[in-house]
Amino acid sequence: MGAPDTYILGRSANETRRLILQHQIFGPLTRRFFEAAGIGAGMKVLDLGSGAGDVALLAADLVGASGQVVGVDMNAEILETARARAASAGWTNVTFLSGNVREIALDADFDAVVGRWILMHVPDPVGTLRHVASRLRVGGIVAFHENDFTYPPTVFPPTELSKKMQRWTIPPHGGPGPETHMGTQLFKIYVAAGLPEPQIMIEAAAGGGADWPGYEYLVETFRSLLPALSQITGATAAEMDIDTLAARIRDDVVSRQGIMMLPMMYGAWTRKRA
Ligand SMILES: C[S@@+](CC[C@H](N)C(=O)[O-])C[C@H]1O[C@@H](n2cnc3c(N)ncnc32)[C@H](O)[C@@H]1O
Repeated sequence: MGAPDTYILGRSANETRRLILQHQIFGPLTRRFFEAAGIGAGMKVLDLGSGAGDVALLAADLVGASGQVVGVDMNAEILETARARAASAGWTNVTFLSGNVREIALDADFDAVVGRWILMHVPDPVGTLRHVASRLRVGGIVAFHENDFTYPPTVFPPTELSKKMQRWTIPPHGGPGPETHMGTQLFKIYVAAGLPEPQIMIEAAAGGGADWPGYEYLVETFRSLLPALSQITGATAAEMDIDTLAARIRDDVVSRQGIMMLPMMYGAWTRKRA
């Protein structure tokens, strides 16, 4: 019997679209992080929590035709999207396995294990990291890219609406749902999993102007999270006026020639010791 499916962002078609839009914004950051971590040509990479396949496809681009990527996700449905996207990109060396990463059989000769926005969603990140590291060869790379809301996403200069958005959408730390302070905990989680102390990289996507896609991305994220947010922060679609929210944030930012900063991304990487 597998673990129950309690994934907070839901399983809708809207959520799949949100993951793809998300990668347009965060893909360049994740690429820079993976390059710093040493992911490169010819490697065999395990991608944990593949979702719609964006990280697996990015890894495929870095390892090239002589490498291999195996993605794992417990959501069998979203893996159909990931498989279709890999096929249409022409990758024959990218495969996806459906199941909980702690329960499915995996090879033990990976050169790297990677993931984005996954350790924040698993109930036991130390155990998960220890488990996936056991699937690596000695010297293999462990590279995870996660959020942290210790410093919340914001608008510069802040507006009444941006302050309200923080109240609606940032749950108090330590409550139910994803670990919202995962980024700043990566160092200690790696060490607790028996890995060498990781190097850390922090970057945030930010933008301004009328055409920046971040406003829509953020509101689509709120939409996917609404059932959980309404329980955790009390926010409602009506109070947020969610259908006009992206336009209102855009107007706020553009009218002040301000910028909006999205959640900070923390990357941690290390190599498995002998
Ligand atoms: C926020 S999404 C991230 C998707 C992708 N990594 C990306 O960056 O676009 C997290 C994914 O992890 C999957 N997931 C969560 N816990 C999992 C587990 N224990 N085993 C396998 N997949 C898991 C969810 O089903 C979901 O698709």
